[in-house]
Amino acid sequence: MSGGAMTKILVTGALGQIGSELVNELRRRYGRDNVLASDIRDDVGSAILESGPYKHLDCLNKKELIKTVQKFGVDTIYHLGAILSGVGELHPDLAWDVNMNGLKNILDTARDLKLTRVMVPSSIAVFGPTTPVDNTPQETLLRPTSMYGVTKVAGELLCEYYWIKYGVDVRGLRYPGLISYKTPPGGGTTDYAVAIYIDAIKHGKYECFVTEETMLPMMYMPDAIKAIIQLAEADGDKLRYRNAYNLAAFSFSAGELAASIRKHIHEFEVEYKPDYHQPIADSWPNSIDDTGAQKDWNWKPEYDLETMTVDMLTNLREMLGDEAKF
Ligand code: SER
Repeated sequence: MSGGAMTKILVTGALGQIGSELVNELRRRYGRDNVLASDIRDDVGSAILESGPYKHLDCLNKKELIKTVQKFGVDTIYHLGAILSGVGELHPDLAWDVNMNGLKNILDTARDLKLTRVMVPSSIAVFGPTTPVDNTPQETLLRPTSMYGVTKVAGELLCEYYWIKYGVDVRGLRYPGLISYKTPPGGGTTDYAVAIYIDAIKHGKYECFVTEETMLPMMYMPDAIKAIIQLAEADGDKLRYRNAYNLAAFSFSAGELAASIRKHIHEFEVEYKPDYHQPIADSWPNSIDDTGAQKDWNWKPEYDLETMTVDMLTNLREMLGDEAKF
């Protein structure tokens, strides 16, 4: 598959934070009718439902998944349907079921119907308290302490297994926290870095669920979309890692993020009230070494903290209209 080549793509979890932007870009790139968006939601009014084909699809329903892939003639799946870290800690059984069995159904389908490619996001959540925190290497200790992290490590191993054993062309990347304005994230630990912008513009203040010092690797959504498409189109012979690639853009503490917003909204105030998200955040690295991605498929991010903040504030102010007070 390469830009412009004939392809039929299924995106699961298409109405989520990543999916809603990825589907738009894939439709722009490969043609609107070649990208089937799917989700367990049916949000009336979502632009994704208007801009091309859409199917209600639960990845836990294998029969329906296989039928959908056959009917639409899918050759490539972007599997985004998952439970994130915060919700996963509140509902560990659900996180295991959706993240593991959903993924296995996708991989089985890809193997049995001989699909060309499967893209599966992993996460910095594969790392844990015993992982080196600074410039975390590609190959390192993976001993996460969140259920989400457990499913991401097991999921990476399962992807690699399907590649080695069955030759399924699976490709993955370990996303850092993702920041965007178009669709809100759902139930992650890094969601504070999105909510902080919205509350800054609406209220001039924000109550933050991690401490001021909490440092995490992050990325702006346009870079995240660019990365997954670039990896999907990369020369498979050059890919050394079939579990998932480390991926980085920049890192900041919650306090540094607040300061970057304060440059534009001088009166902005943050109150730090860490909750159940804090131990999850504390178990993740400060920064990531992504030289593997740079070497194997020429990864390079565009945005830094300052350019992201300017873009976020501009777009959110426009979207929020009268609600934007700052
Ligand atoms: N950013 C996600 C979360 O916080 C991790 O992949 O859950």
